Amino acid sequence: MTPLPIHNYLSLTPEQCHSRLQNAKQQLGNHLIILGHHYQRDEVIQYADHVGDSLKLSRLAAQSGARYIVFCGVHFMAEVADILSSPQQTAILPDLAAGCSMADMANLAKVEDAWDQLSKLLGPDPVLPITYINSAADLKAFCGKHGGTVCTSSNAQAVLTWSLQQRQKVLFFPDQHLGRNTGYRMGIPLNEMVIWDFDQPQGGLTLPQLQAAKLILWDGYCSVHQLFQPTDIEHFRQRHPTGKVVAHPECCLEVCQQADVIGSTEKIIETVMSSPPGTHWLVGTEWHLVNRLARQAQATGKKAEFMSSTHCQCSTMYRIDLPHLLWVLENLQQGTIVNPISVPSEIAALARLALQRMLAL
Ligand code: 13P
Ligand code: SF4
Repeated sequence: MTPLPIHNYLSLTPEQCHSRLQNAKQQLGNHLIILGHHYQRDEVIQYADHVGDSLKLSRLAAQSGARYIVFCGVHFMAEVADILSSPQQTAILPDLAAGCSMADMANLAKVEDAWDQLSKLLGPDPVLPITYINSAADLKAFCGKHGGTVCTSSNAQAVLTWSLQQRQKVLFFPDQHLGRNTGYRMGIPLNEMVIWDFDQPQGGLTLPQLQAAKLILWDGYCSVHQLFQPTDIEHFRQRHPTGKVVAHPECCLEVCQQADVIGSTEKIIETVMSSPPGTHWLVGTEWHLVNRLARQAQATGKKAEFMSSTHCQCSTMYRIDLPHLLWVLENLQQGTIVNPISVPSEIAALARLALQRMLAL
């Protein structure tokens, strides 16, 4: 069957989309599961069967028996769903342009180049590669091949602790901040966490710096979380001396050092919602999550305030909208799969190995 074209959907009103989406979801029944990341827009998230952070959604993808896993998130999340699900299941990303700009800051050629240089400089075995789940499948496969694993913002400390029991050093990509914030909380001195600048020979580092390092951090970052600044926290504390601060570990070290709580998107929500009535929170993560959380918190007598005066939203996650979701579901209704995410089997096998090492921790 020829796929229904996306241009038929782009001019539909939200009301038209809503009534057709309800119908499509009902008809597809338990053949379909919709997973939604916490950064997704309100109008889309209401169709998700499960909402969560990357770790929770990876586990759900692995457990789901549904034939179609529609991922309202970004590309790497749909890849993980494909890798962890069975061959009879298909992961679908409603808009293929929904990537992650941080994930794009590391690629296999540059990581292999760094790996070769590190092996020549430090010898064959002292370094373990760890990739943040925000990365392409071939980088997860690279970690699988070299004895490494994957981490998410909720298990980074457990993963790094395990990793440093396996080998002396970790090459951590692509998010320098998650690596540094986690290492800092583990008590690793800042001079033992170095930045590998992938555009410089030897990562821009001297041999003694590399020899002393425990964590070699890729020079990547999230363009959304880098907007939060320590001055945002200082101003909040001046206005609300008893207020509390919660931040995502993709924020810079100076923000995380000043936060009362650091955690994944799921932990941020749990922290605010389980706090006593009257608590006033400053929240350092993506705008859609905070906006929704502020409404839920208000209903239970708490306050959640966005950390920045700049409107920081994940513009790639935002690409998943009602027309794209409807387009995918109505195609499924007529038996056509649009936008399947299918990781080549050799890459998937090694990436699965790395992910399973993580899930076993
Ligand atoms: P979480 O795993 O905390 O949901 O984070 C994913 C992400 O991309 C944050 O920017
Ligand atoms: Fe990637 Fe940042 Fe968006 Fe998270 S918020 S998906 S790290 S670009």
